[in-house]
Amino acid sequence: MEIEIAATPAGNDASEARPVLRLTNLSKSFGGVQALDRVGLQVGRGEVHGLLGQNGSGKSTLIKILSGFHAPDPGGQLWIDGQEIGLPVAPGALREHGLSFVHQHLGLIPSITVLENLLVYDLAIADRWAINWRAEAQRARELFARYDIRLDPLAGVSRLSPVERAQLAIVRAFDWLQRTRGGKGASGLLVLDEPTPFLPAHDVDVLFRLVRDIVRAGTSVIFVSHDIDEVLEITTRATVLRDGRIAGTFDTAAMDKRAIVHLIVGQHVDLESMRPPAKSRGARRDDPQLAGRHDPRFLGRARARRGGRPDRTDRLRL
Ligand SMILES: Nc1ncnc2c1ncn2[C@@H]1O[C@H](COP(=O)(O)OP(=O)(O)OP(=O)(O)O)[C@@H](O)[C@H]1O
Ligand SMILES: [Mg+2]
Repeated sequence: MEIEIAATPAGNDASEARPVLRLTNLSKSFGGVQALDRVGLQVGRGEVHGLLGQNGSGKSTLIKILSGFHAPDPGGQLWIDGQEIGLPVAPGALREHGLSFVHQHLGLIPSITVLENLLVYDLAIADRWAINWRAEAQRARELFARYDIRLDPLAGVSRLSPVERAQLAIVRAFDWLQRTRGGKGASGLLVLDEPTPFLPAHDVDVLFRLVRDIVRAGTSVIFVSHDIDEVLEITTRATVLRDGRIAGTFDTAAMDKRAIVHLIVGQHVDLESMRPPAKSRGARRDDPQLAGRHDPRFLGRARARRGGRPDRTDRLRL
């Protein structure tokens, strides 16, 4: 039986009234590959909107069209805060409209400092001497303190742990958003393309606290992920892409893991039979020893949970 849970390109809830972002009929082909096929997406104000799908389902292509990296095929339409934006967007132009991006792999420069990474756009348009480094370092310390991030602005990024890098990339994108939106009223949309792959549970919690703080500041978020547990935990609504098409959009609270897997894969999946054997739990999904025995797309990662919260040993990544 096919699941069609609110499987509409655009939901019929309050977010439809004044969406922060509305996208219709978006297609993109790369030569013979149809990466996106007439996709629609709508993100409401104050919403964390999940974008889910298997490898190659088109998530990053959609995000890269939004950021102006790819030009879509003709026919798509995009509105931000009710204002239509012509496609293709000029690279970087959407920042002016209140969109900020953390792309897959974060986009940090490891060989320079935290502060230089924070100011990398300023460095691109101004000479180094034009920047008041002392004042900017102090501003960075205040920014990090506000979001409970323990980063030294003068530390080299190459020395940061994976979660510290992700924190820096997210807070940088949020900082850009606030600085470009300064005085413009609307609180913007932060787009996070898989900021959490292979982080242990404690580190995911740290990042989710940051995302929640950002949402409390009034910003909406698109959260791209393979990880169903993370989508259940952090999102209010979510959209599933399957082979470049919308498989469904749903209110997260109304869904469970089984129904989401069904949407992602397009058919019923027996979750019990997909669990890895106990000794291999926690292995990375690309562990070649596991190939063939269990579909690596379904492998869980062992993540010890703190404070009595459930272990994520049987988490699903697709
Ligand atoms: N620059 C490109 N040139 C050619 N094909 C591309 C390009 N970028 C993406 N594709 C193809 O488009 C399809 C969608 O890719 P995309 O990267 O958007 O998927 P994804 O959902 O982000 O996957 P992942 O979960 O692995 O990040 C895939 O078949 C991919 O091979
Ligand atoms: Mg991707």
